[in-house]
Amino acid sequence: MTKATDLLQQKIKEAQLGGGEARIASQHKKGKLTARERLHFLMDEGSFQEIGMMVTHRSNEFGLEREKYLGDGVVTGFGTINGRLVYVFSQDFTVFGGSLSETHAEKICRIMDLAVQNGAPLIGLNDSGGARIQEGVVSLGGYADIFYRNTRASGVIPQLSAIMGPCAGGAVYSPAITDFIMMVENTSYMFVTGPNVVKTVTHEEVSSEELGGASTHSTKSGVTHFSCANEIECINNIKALLSYMPQNCEEETPIVAYEAGNEKRPKLNDLIPENANQPYDMREVILEVIDADSFLEVHKNFAENIVVGFARLGGKSIGIVANQPAFLAGVLDIKSSNKAARFVRFCDSFNIPLLVFEDVPGFLPGTDQEWNGIITNGAKLLYAFCEATVPRITVITRKAYGGAYDVMNSKHIGADMNYAWPTAEIAVMGAKGAAEIIFKSEISSAKDPAAKLKEKESEYIEHFANPYRAAERGYVDEVIIPEDTREKLITAFKMLKNKVYNMPRKKHGNIPL
Ligand code: HXC
Repeated sequence: MTKATDLLQQKIKEAQLGGGEARIASQHKKGKLTARERLHFLMDEGSFQEIGMMVTHRSNEFGLEREKYLGDGVVTGFGTINGRLVYVFSQDFTVFGGSLSETHAEKICRIMDLAVQNGAPLIGLNDSGGARIQEGVVSLGGYADIFYRNTRASGVIPQLSAIMGPCAGGAVYSPAITDFIMMVENTSYMFVTGPNVVKTVTHEEVSSEELGGASTHSTKSGVTHFSCANEIECINNIKALLSYMPQNCEEETPIVAYEAGNEKRPKLNDLIPENANQPYDMREVILEVIDADSFLEVHKNFAENIVVGFARLGGKSIGIVANQPAFLAGVLDIKSSNKAARFVRFCDSFNIPLLVFEDVPGFLPGTDQEWNGIITNGAKLLYAFCEATVPRITVITRKAYGGAYDVMNSKHIGADMNYAWPTAEIAVMGAKGAAEIIFKSEISSAKDPAAKLKEKESEYIEHFANPYRAAERGYVDEVIIPEDTREKLITAFKMLKNKVYNMPRKKHGNIPL
């Protein structure tokens, strides 16, 4: 018995050592934690249960039969984060560069199957040189097995990907299918083809960091939703993100204890500038309305003309989508439409009610936008809102112009409640543009065309640049004093708590991708 136990202890030690002390030291030298250290910081103390610790690869080519490591480059298992069950895999770069072999893939697939069958989130900590080169197509097949499961699990359980080292080639597509990606600055990168191939094909000279580092993907491409200064920040971000989500699509979101108090927020009364063309920061509105310290912004530095993120209102999770007048006047364009559409669909998949703050002058004009498909891309956001069946509320703070009025969660496309502040302007377009078109001949034949334009502009503003035409029609349910916004929203979301809406029977819709 003692001998048998000794052997077990020895094997556990061997597995925990991964590729060996020298390689662990090399990992640390790069500023990276090991796969097991990451799990130590991620999971509740003592909760992690490993599955498949003794698995080794089955390859006999290129000398691999002489080099086997227990676990085969990935630590898989389950445990809890803040008391809630999660399934997790953590790739071990010290074993063949964390590369994905047939058995490595099988271990990940097993965890994914368990996560779906038991309705709990899946977290992937990625740090891998890609397909295990010595194994060839068997490794490629392993990737495809994972992609297939990622897709089938999409909308069933939340899937989060942390990129904590290399992630290249087709390997990038597993994280890309998951719900959220976070990258660690300076030690992680993602690209389909690396700098060497880029140089050969396009003659561009570019570093790994520039081509696919956290900064690039959090600002230029939007591939990553979060850019984290270091691994600990990344791990804490995973925990924070999970705190807003249900375990699976059948469950409610977690509730944080909240005691009702004075919900009036007088600061909101003075946030909108007198001049309708002057910008203000919509984040100030958001932070005044939601529970203190509850905002987790997603895609913070990408497509900044729209702000999206999770928050709590009266202790309950909500998803926020808000035009940002402080950036490009809050106009809708291709990137912001994509960013918001994906966020709306995530919230709708996982029963997270949506709150929209609207101040939008319309869609961005120009050849760049038209030639790159603002029609198709703008339609994604429209489709995402139309399709969403979670409770949905809009607050129009200022401009709601043109097609963007319809798109930004209007009542016409299924929003449950629309509120407007007295400063709201709900119209086909801005006053100047409108006056120039509809009073064209009157203005051009006037003695003083400039003065006439001003006069007609004022006439238009008086008539249309307010919330009352929309309120007369019931398109706006109530015009509210800004300081009452928080109270109104808490009450309205409470009223909508048991909302049931069944979509027409279909296999699935065809969002304009
Ligand atoms: C087998 C690999 C490996 C791989 C790294 N290693 N990548 N072994 N298959 N894909 C091994 C190395 O031989 C080395 O072993 C150890 O891991 C650490 O690698 P280093 O090169 O020393 O580390 P570093 O300098 O940090 O460079 C990391 C790296 C580099 C940039 C990831 O290793 C690299 O370029 N690897 C190949 C990447 C690649 O082309 N992969 C295939 C992509 S295509 P020793 O014994 O020396 O410690 C792909 C297709 C997926 O993945 C398709 C899905 C559809």
